[in-house]
Amino acid sequence: MSSTRSKILSVGTYIPENLWTNDDLKKLMDTSDEWIQQRTGIRQRYWAHESQSTSDLALSASEQAIERAGIEKSKIDLVILATLSPDHEFPGTACFLQAKLGLPGIPALDVRQQCTGFIYGVSIADQFIRTGMYKHVLVVGAEIHSKGLNRTTAGREVSVLFGDGAGAVVMAAVDVRDPAKDSCVISTHLFADGAFAKELWIPAPGSSYPIAARMTHEMIDQGLQWPQMNGKTVFVHAVKRMPEAVLTALEANRLQVSDIDLFVFHQANLRINEMVAKQLGIPAEKVFNTIDRFGNTTAATIPIGLNEAVAAGKLKKGMLVMSAAFGSGFTWASSLIRW
Ligand code: ACO
Repeated sequence: MSSTRSKILSVGTYIPENLWTNDDLKKLMDTSDEWIQQRTGIRQRYWAHESQSTSDLALSASEQAIERAGIEKSKIDLVILATLSPDHEFPGTACFLQAKLGLPGIPALDVRQQCTGFIYGVSIADQFIRTGMYKHVLVVGAEIHSKGLNRTTAGREVSVLFGDGAGAVVMAAVDVRDPAKDSCVISTHLFADGAFAKELWIPAPGSSYPIAARMTHEMIDQGLQWPQMNGKTVFVHAVKRMPEAVLTALEANRLQVSDIDLFVFHQANLRINEMVAKQLGIPAEKVFNTIDRFGNTTAATIPIGLNEAVAAGKLKKGMLVMSAAFGSGFTWASSLIRW
């Protein structure tokens, strides 16, 4: 007996043109290539042109994914966009993307789960497709961090980590006889713990402040409009939660680490991914990292990683690919896909 499952038909990406090496950052702040590489594995990142918005990056990645899927864009039933760097506070950036794609009328949904946003998006698309509600869903992760970072010495602990970019997948309904063997999304596993929301966040502006203090000069002077991160706490939780998410997916599908052909993890920090791999006993050649070239592009790291892995010949049809992410919220998640 067959059942309706979702499958990733195609991946597309967009990487902005402006390359910033670690040495280039010295023009903006007191830092060094050695400090950044040693602690994060990042060598360079790309930052968008000032005229570009997050929905522009998302549009380019989406157009490439739709073209590679070989479908008319009018077949898309739902647009899901994960980002923490929206075009505007409201409406959601998925609405701007939907308009730029020229798809009036279809639903557009923003996902605000930061580094875990893409897996949350894939999971939502998967549920809509399995229930028969939609046949084709566009899932995008896109970020312009560069305009929202304190790119001075005061903000260097955070600003050196992040790059801009976008990745998109077209997910489609398929009839699957054996979900363990046929090409499809096998399972997704989502988690969050809001008790840690303020360990990595942007404090202001926001509705949590009184009317007169919603946005003040003092806030700006204190830098509350910039991301604030307790880096050590993020590190400690990431190396615990990502392995847990992987093990949950393995257990749910009665698989071992050795059954997985490729791990395409979120790219926060090379050291995090090395520790995750070590704890799980994953050989280095099965982990596909891109952080050295692109930095942390938050919601876009996993689709960019999938795209780069396909291009490098490391991810091929029939392979089992596991993704896991951890990020602000705290949120974490995993997905297991038969490519
Ligand atoms: N260049 C040079 N020096 C710097 C920089 C920089 N960019 N940033 C901070 N420093 C200095 C600090 O001022 C401090 O100096 P001091 O000791 O004189 O006060 C010193 O370096 C801090 O160094 P460490 O304590 O060794 O820093 P640490 O090892 O904690 O590394 C880091 C910091 C890389 C941020 C680490 O905590 C980390 O990776 N945490 C995980 C956070 C992360 O990955 N966030 C990504 C977003 S969340 C996500 O995607 C999951």
